[in-house]
Amino acid sequence: MLSVVVLISGSGSNLLALLKAAENPLYPVKVVAVGSDKDAPGLEHAELFEVDTFIVEPSRFQDKEQWAKTLLANVLHHQPDLVVLAGFMKILPESFVKALEGKLINTHPSLLPDFKGAHAVRDALQAGAKKTGVTIHYVDAGVDTGPVIVQQELTINEGESESELHERIKVIERALLVETIEKLALAKSASEGN
Ligand code: GAR
Repeated sequence: MLSVVVLISGSGSNLLALLKAAENPLYPVKVVAVGSDKDAPGLEHAELFEVDTFIVEPSRFQDKEQWAKTLLANVLHHQPDLVVLAGFMKILPESFVKALEGKLINTHPSLLPDFKGAHAVRDALQAGAKKTGVTIHYVDAGVDTGPVIVQQELTINEGESESELHERIKVIERALLVETIEKLALAKSASEGN
């Protein structure tokens, strides 16, 4: 069983997909806690599924390092095998990333390296891209630069709005995230000879 901590900042639909998948006893993943940088609406999903939550707000700390240290302590308290950034919209300092090296993944609504950052869907539309998609990748010290685990492409429809496109991206993103975390869990248990 792979223990997972999920960090979110928003509606948490990816989190919800993972929580629903984990209801199946054959799915080899357990969400042990959900954290956020704010009182995000998506935390309600965790509460509904009786999963521990924590909020570590940057404004309560002197600087980013102090914030990240407390966030990391909350994450490590749950002893996760994997930490998933699922719509977590704060950039994490190198100290946080290093402490979780190889255990920290992010899901991003574009085909990286195209359209990094917080407005990937809007940026793809503004650039007149014909295709976009989803990237799930390991997190390194850069912003959306870590090694890609998997990508899935999607054609942009003529005249599509940012919210319409993001919704269509999220449909494939949720399925891809659930499937990718399952694969990571199976690979871990195979490497441990289970
Ligand atoms: C997802 O599309 C995720 O890829 C994106 O935020 C959305 C969160 O949706 N993340 C980023 O843009 C990170 N740069 P959700 O809260 O419904 O899961």
